[in-house]
Amino acid sequence: MYDRFNRKINYLRISVTDRCNLRCKYCMPEEGIKLLPHEAILSYREIFDVVEVAVKLGIDKVRLTGGEPLVRKGIVDLVGMIASIKGIKDLSMTTNGILLKDFAVKLKHAGLQRVNISLDTMDPEAYKLLTRGGNIKRVFQGIRAAKTAGLHPIKINCVVWENSQEKDAQEVARFARENDLRIRFIHQMNLSTGEFSIVEGGEGGNCRKCNRLRLTSDGKIKPCLFSDLAFDVREMGAENAIRKAVGEKPKSGTYSKSSKFYNIGG
Ligand code: 5AD
Ligand code: SF4
Repeated sequence: MYDRFNRKINYLRISVTDRCNLRCKYCMPEEGIKLLPHEAILSYREIFDVVEVAVKLGIDKVRLTGGEPLVRKGIVDLVGMIASIKGIKDLSMTTNGILLKDFAVKLKHAGLQRVNISLDTMDPEAYKLLTRGGNIKRVFQGIRAAKTAGLHPIKINCVVWENSQEKDAQEVARFARENDLRIRFIHQMNLSTGEFSIVEGGEGGNCRKCNRLRLTSDGKIKPCLFSDLAFDVREMGAENAIRKAVGEKPKSGTYSKSSKFYNIGG
């Protein structure tokens, strides 16, 4: 699929849940979020059907995100279902790594190819503060398990406040170098005011080269993270929703009052 600006759209990012086992300060308010009701969340069957249509229309790259995808029950089954669709060349997941130790091998067997793991600091105390309670040890165990399981290339998502030269980011970069992990620096963004920038070491944030669509956990196809445009797959059917989203994909992002990182997964 090509959009109005001749960008080839071949990448679908799927948020499978708005829930998360962490409360990162830059992502969620302390008191947590108003969770979507169960009926609003797409079933695995519904997600599968959307992906099948998307692949027929030209999507060949799929990423599962959240919230935290590993907190959704049966996630390995969904990976298996999606992996069975012919035509997907790249199937990946973004995770905070907390539960990855127990899932890495099962995910690999189900057909997941690789993972991106969020890690913004090497300091256990700073990690605990930033994530409001997370245990960094479990992330390291998760990274090790992902390596052993062969979920590579493993990428580290490192959110930076000012730039990649700051101390925490440099320490994470060193850890990545020493452990054969790729690192991407993501500037802290504000969706509602439209503060976004290009991801260092990644592809995100560059509107001219954007190849993405997003599917929210409640079934809306969003053509842009920094826009409120959304097309409901239950109301319109997957094919119409996808075609509309591609047809109306904006030239560049502005801001979004409806997108939140925990419901769209970055
Ligand atoms: N700015 C930038 N990235 C964010 N993420 C979550 N909140 C923000 C934000 N405010 C991204 C991070 C994290 C992933 C799960 O979502 O990259 O690693
Ligand atoms: Fe959870 Fe990721 Fe948001 Fe942190 S950034 S609260 S790990 S969804």
